[in-house]
Amino acid sequence: MKPKIFVTRLLPKPAMEKLEEIFEIRVNPHDRVLTKPEIIDGTKWCDILLCLLSDTIDRDIIVCNPNLKGIVNYAVGYNNIDIGTASKLKIPVTNTPGVLTNATADLAWSLIFSVARRTPESDTFMRTGNFTGWSPMLLLGGDITGKTLGIIGAGRIGTAVAKRSIGFNMKVLYNDKNRTIENEIQAEQTSLEDLLKRSDFVSIHVPLLPETRHLISDKELKLMRQSAYLINTSRGPVVDEKALVKALKEKWIAGAGLDVYENEPEMVEGLKDCQNAVLLPHLGSATNETRTNMGLICADNAAAIWEGKRPPQIVNPEIYS
Ligand code: GLV
Ligand code: GLV
Repeated sequence: MKPKIFVTRLLPKPAMEKLEEIFEIRVNPHDRVLTKPEIIDGTKWCDILLCLLSDTIDRDIIVCNPNLKGIVNYAVGYNNIDIGTASKLKIPVTNTPGVLTNATADLAWSLIFSVARRTPESDTFMRTGNFTGWSPMLLLGGDITGKTLGIIGAGRIGTAVAKRSIGFNMKVLYNDKNRTIENEIQAEQTSLEDLLKRSDFVSIHVPLLPETRHLISDKELKLMRQSAYLINTSRGPVVDEKALVKALKEKWIAGAGLDVYENEPEMVEGLKDCQNAVLLPHLGSATNETRTNMGLICADNAAAIWEGKRPPQIVNPEIYS
């Protein structure tokens, strides 16, 4: 008999095929996020739970099956899982770091370009028949080349975003308590306050932790330049969305490019009316290649867990000590 894996949403085919080699699979039959009772039902059935960042895996779910062998998250961020409970029960939890670094860094840059050069707005302008001829003051944006890029959180993704700036001859500032990146790219480490004051583009790349929740709120937005842009491809709650709407409406800053929201899939009241915001539906890792690779990594981790080995992308290694 094959071990059982419960997959909370259909994944790209190569990943499903790889899982099928080892596991009996039960997969969410709907094209929607499962409810908590549905996740509990699947978790009770399985040996290993394969879940998404849109599934909240809380204590109730983790304890509902005393024989649960592992939790495999199809994401690099794992703030959706109660790691404390999993660790207490010695349940390994894994994520998908590395494979989505470039896709996410590319998307951060697409937000930089589109918010600074107002491309979504300009596309709508064309499609609605408003273009009557070249005009000196039509849809003016902000320069990118030669400006200052501020990176908050210089992990894999933040560093990859910084490296892409070389072609644009930018000065790079970064804020990270745990790392230095000067061996990889010419950059200046500085305080959050100094970074916010000096950057033309502020791009956020920290995980969501109690200490990063609302890291960017009224005070921080007021420190930014009026001509500056805020880019967030990390987790929504890192930015106080209400404060951001105020900043966008009252023009404390020039604009924002967002891929993540405080209360996904909802947006805070007023955000969609801000013309100076570019809004994407959490697409950081959304390329065919990356989503497939994330699935293959999940399959490797699930297989290792089933074989009783330490999975390669473990996020709670303390369970082995
Ligand atoms: C995406 O947001 C991820 O954490 O993988
Ligand atoms: C995530 O992979 C990060 O370290 O930025």
